[in-house]
Amino acid sequence: MIDRETTERIIETAEIADVIQDFVNLKKRGTNYLGLCPFHSEKTPSFTVSPSKGIFKCFGCGKGGNAINFIMEHEHLSYPEALRYLAKKYNIDIKEKELTAEEVEEKNVRDSLLIVTNFAKKHYIHNLFHQEEGKKIGLSYLQERGIREDMIERFELGYSLDQWEGFTRAAIQKGFKQEYLEKAGFTIAKENKRYDRFRGRIMFPIRSLSGNVIGFGGRALKKDDKAKYLNSPESDIYHKSNILYGIYQAKKAITRQDKCFLVEGYTDVIALHQSGIENVVAASGTSLTENQVRLVKRFTPNITIIFDGDPAGIKASLRGIDLILEQGMNVKVLLLPDGEDPDSFAKTRSASELGEYIRNNEKDFIHFKTRLLAEEAENDPVKRANLINDIVRSISVIPDGIMRSVYIKNCSGMLDIDEKILYQETNKIRNKRAKQRHRKAQADKDREEKNNQNLTTLPSFIEEVYSETQEKEIIRLLLQYGEQELYTYKEDKYEEPKSLSVAQYIIKEILNDELEFKNLIYKKIFEEYLETLNKGEHPGRNHFIYHSDDKISSLAADLLSPNYELSEFFKKKSGIHVEPEDMKLKMLIPEAIIAYKRKILEKAQKDKVKEIQQAQQNGADPHKIMEIQQEYQAITSAINSISKDRGWVVFR
Ligand code: CTP
Ligand code: MN
Repeated sequence: MIDRETTERIIETAEIADVIQDFVNLKKRGTNYLGLCPFHSEKTPSFTVSPSKGIFKCFGCGKGGNAINFIMEHEHLSYPEALRYLAKKYNIDIKEKELTAEEVEEKNVRDSLLIVTNFAKKHYIHNLFHQEEGKKIGLSYLQERGIREDMIERFELGYSLDQWEGFTRAAIQKGFKQEYLEKAGFTIAKENKRYDRFRGRIMFPIRSLSGNVIGFGGRALKKDDKAKYLNSPESDIYHKSNILYGIYQAKKAITRQDKCFLVEGYTDVIALHQSGIENVVAASGTSLTENQVRLVKRFTPNITIIFDGDPAGIKASLRGIDLILEQGMNVKVLLLPDGEDPDSFAKTRSASELGEYIRNNEKDFIHFKTRLLAEEAENDPVKRANLINDIVRSISVIPDGIMRSVYIKNCSGMLDIDEKILYQETNKIRNKRAKQRHRKAQADKDREEKNNQNLTTLPSFIEEVYSETQEKEIIRLLLQYGEQELYTYKEDKYEEPKSLSVAQYIIKEILNDELEFKNLIYKKIFEEYLETLNKGEHPGRNHFIYHSDDKISSLAADLLSPNYELSEFFKKKSGIHVEPEDMKLKMLIPEAIIAYKRKILEKAQKDKVKEIQQAQQNGADPHKIMEIQQEYQAITSAINSISKDRGWVVFR
């Protein structure tokens, strides 16, 4: 996390025209600058930069924002990534906000894995160009396949030597820990043997959106190798269902062309690049996932899937394409001539022939699918029924109503079926799906609401009593677990879920009833905690352990010491298993609040009984007595109700 001060410095320093000039050729026009918009293609400039306001605005496509927005949009970076980019440009040292031990650990693992993969990339490249075996086997293979050297460089291809532990040994010699080599998938260790995963293979580095190498695909060169391709296993940095091969090299071209080609394999991506088509990615042999579709959608809503001319393969992947339609993308398909794949096809044609073939043969997906299936269902009524069903299902996932009706009209013509029937069928499927979604949303909402409920509220006339055990327990839980997440909730269903910490929960409950701790030290701790939390931070244990008030520091030390690990309070209660406490926070925290509130209520109930007796003995005004009796009633029902609150968070 970058701290606020640094963020402000970056914002102050980054001069918008200077930032944008790195990417766009700007000309001065009066007080502003003008250039060709990088976000859509145009011939006359409508992209304006205003240094005085610190903003850019394109009057052609409407994009606009500040320097950070520009970098985010143009480089496809997240907010913090854009800040880091600007910090680097202006030599601003980034002060990182302190991370928790857990975050540091996680970050370190990821960082270490990235360093390992980066080392591996360089190692494999070195093998390819400077090792005898690499040159003779690897490089000559690539040359035979007609892959140019600039492509080898752009895609950072390399070679893994055909040795049992060539890479592992080199990496360990460089000081890498075997643990990380294993985690990143380079080294396989079994009992007392260890060996390289990738041996005698052409290595294709897989890069994340921001360019880091996160994994590899390795192509075998020996005929007898069982697996033609071997990929890095899933790791903290490599999740194969979230990444597309080539996205880093393609993202600029995808934005510029407002279109993305999807192919099957590594070599297809490289061959198309070599022919000048750079807006291309590959799912690398897996069926496309929702996250991969979203990744493309960040750059363009238009996707064209390139199929080899193999009907069985095409049919198998039709269903998966509904996933792309569902995201509201415009899907086209391009069928290659029989026996060709993008690799072979691109190599035997010039760039202009390739472009022409694409223009002439690209087909809308639903039309393509309808025609493909219609051909083979022609005279078979059962197949025909299935076909209609199938097409209707594809149409029904399209989010946009107008698009749906256009397709229905078209397909009605192609299939020779009444439009009305297609509408009916589409609506049937949509209704069914809507119902399912509704049911699920309702269930989610019920659960959320249950989580969000406050505990029973106390009658307002009630006075706190001194309840040492309960107050102490709450303070202990606050200090011990304050920062931990108790649960997540949404304020409305469109929002990202927010996290409620133990401290936030405790404070919410105490303030809700306007309660105050009677013990002054507890009270002070509570108030200090609240004050820090209001500034958006948790005070952390050391705040109290090293507190200048030594009553607070010694209490904190006592409460946080390990022998307090199991709640004294709960040990006394019967029926509660002794389990690691933080696993039971969802129960412990509300229980502690309930116990505190109940203690107050029970004392108040006793007092009211006495008050009524006294009032009766003194012959008080019957109205007055009734008033007290009503208060007694209110307390009693609060006690009943708070007893029902018990353990409510547990059953989610
Ligand atoms: N693939 C894989 N594992 C395999 C086979 C294939 O992961 N055992 C993936 C690879 O990403 C590969 C893609 O599926 O790139 C397509 O497979 P294929 O067409 O067999 O490979 P090509 O990329 O065409 O490779 P080549 O041209 O070298 O045969
Ligand atoms: Mn191929």
